[in-house]
Amino acid sequence: MTELQRLRAEHAPALLAFERANRAYFAESVPDRGDAYFAEFDARLAELLAGQEAGRDHLHLIIGGDGEVLGRVNLIDVEDGSAELGFRVAKEAAGRGLATNAVRQALVLAADTYGLRLLRAAATVDNTGSRTVLQRTGFLPVGETVLDGRPAIRYVRDLGAARQRPAGA
Ligand SMILES: CC(C)(COP(=O)(O)OP(=O)(O)OC[C@H]1O[C@@H](n2cnc3c(N)ncnc32)[C@H](O)[C@@H]1OP(=O)(O)O)[C@@H](O)C(=O)NCCC(=O)NCCS
Repeated sequence: MTELQRLRAEHAPALLAFERANRAYFAESVPDRGDAYFAEFDARLAELLAGQEAGRDHLHLIIGGDGEVLGRVNLIDVEDGSAELGFRVAKEAAGRGLATNAVRQALVLAADTYGLRLLRAAATVDNTGSRTVLQRTGFLPVGETVLDGRPAIRYVRDLGAARQRPAGA
């Protein structure tokens, strides 16, 4: 049983534990956050919460049955009805559909609660897991880019089309 929760200050210890435990795992697919991220964790979390308060970002955690953080799904850089989607799931919880389910929930929140009309995302060509999640949740490839020096694909998701898709999309 998992739940998608909007990021709050009380999540700090569980979120830090999640980022620490999965640091090496995430660094296999996306750039490492760097030592400063962990050393200045509280200050950075405060900045994130301030950005969320200002409506610039919408940040969510996937919370497990014991209150542990199993993943993150973030909508950042809100502007003109659009935002950029990012997500990550703990190694111990991988391959169970958590990312796919959480992104689907975030799509509903984005359209119904945050009033967004379009989401953008990008994944490196070699990130099969991320690309699978994006394709399964209705993101369409719209071009190529480079992320961290690696070839990548840009995607968009028209939220106006959310309810016109078949259930599996
Ligand atoms: C990408 C990521 C979020 C996937 O999380 P997840 O909860 O395991 O994803 P799901 O279980 O919803 O998987 C969706 C599909 O992708 C597949 N998949 C997941 N990771 C995969 C991988 N590394 N290689 C190949 N396929 C993968 C799953 O098997 C599943 O397909 P299936 O149902 O046919 O088995 C997770 O691996 C992660 O956090 N990676 C590191 C950070 C990252 O890359 N974030 C995305 C940046 S764009």
